[in-house]
Amino acid sequence: MKKIVLVYSGGLDTSVCIPLMREEYGFDHVITVTVDVGQPQADIAQAEERARKWGTEHYTLDVKAEFVTDYCFPAIRANGDYQGYPISTSIARPLIALKAVEKAQELGATAFGHGCTGKGNDQFRLEYIMRTLMPDAEIVAPMREGRLTSSGLREPWTRSEEIDYCVAHGVEIGQTKDKIWSIDENLWGRSIEGGHLEEPNYAPPEEIFQWTKSIDDCPNTPRLLKIGFENGVPVSLDGESLSPLELVTQAHAIAGEHGVGRVDVMEDRMLGLKVRENYECPAAVLLLTAHKALEALVSTQGELKFKSMVDREWGELAYKGLWYDPLKEDLEAFIGKIQERVTGTVTIRLIKGSAIVVGRESKFALYNEDLASFDSKTFDQADSLGMVKMHGMQSKMYWKLKHG
Ligand code: ARG
Repeated sequence: MKKIVLVYSGGLDTSVCIPLMREEYGFDHVITVTVDVGQPQADIAQAEERARKWGTEHYTLDVKAEFVTDYCFPAIRANGDYQGYPISTSIARPLIALKAVEKAQELGATAFGHGCTGKGNDQFRLEYIMRTLMPDAEIVAPMREGRLTSSGLREPWTRSEEIDYCVAHGVEIGQTKDKIWSIDENLWGRSIEGGHLEEPNYAPPEEIFQWTKSIDDCPNTPRLLKIGFENGVPVSLDGESLSPLELVTQAHAIAGEHGVGRVDVMEDRMLGLKVRENYECPAAVLLLTAHKALEALVSTQGELKFKSMVDREWGELAYKGLWYDPLKEDLEAFIGKIQERVTGTVTIRLIKGSAIVVGRESKFALYNEDLASFDSKTFDQADSLGMVKMHGMQSKMYWKLKHG
């Protein structure tokens, strides 16, 4: 018996994969795995319902808590970002692939299927994990390979061909042919693609947003929120200790209510395509803003400068899905060390789309009120004169050389 584990979202692309795997790729046993990383419950229910209709052996795996602690929190410590995008889809892929691998090993499957096309980043992320952990596994990506036409050539699938193909195989996919957005969701963010959204100069319509209120609908009164951190990860909101998952869930709701978290970037994808991308990442934007503010209070100038380089490298590796890369491990050793002092509280003011830092405190603060204050007696201002005179010595010499 040829068994395959299909990473199954329940959407149209992955649904088409089921009959294709049976008919074109010769798998007589399709196992569908839907990994719950915080997508809407309706999507999970739809995946389960469709898996039942297709007659697959189905598993839904709830990994939300693990996703927060082992993926989102490390991303906070590294200020996880790629070109302004909080890498929300990116960091979920390694965990989804890991769960598919674990299922395959448990059930004795030696092949994987996924619904990624050949244009995006997710094919890299999923397959890197699968190929690392099960190098001999066969990987089938029907959407990337395209539809076999009567002339024997392959062409990309169109949405209506996919819908017709499902119907021809006895499963009605209740999606209208003109559904235009391709959406990926998890508790760290929501990515919206498709239609005209990839065009750099197309203003996104309000209807694409679901997690963040529009400025017009936001409350007129600001909300002050205190976020407590320990060792670089958030542990409390307004003084109340929360589990990681509960904290992210609440941060998501509060930020979304105030319209915080919309991200619109030009993104350089892994294949080199430059594409405009829209995201809603309320929890990520809020928590990253607070984390950076606390780091700025407790780290030295040199540490901050160096860490911004480390963070950028980390973000790029995470974006590429290279979750087990040795450089990522090395960077995390540095990040782990510096986060030992990222403990304290940040106060954020949320108002109409912005999350503004209005306060920060920590027992590790490198701020000294007496030294910084204008009327300090400890700091003898006359002492700076010598330093001021010497400031820029080499550049003053250069000026002289150049201008005589
Ligand atoms: N461009 C983003 C990334 O590479 C999001 C891709 C999400 N996919 C989707 N079908 N919306 O992480």
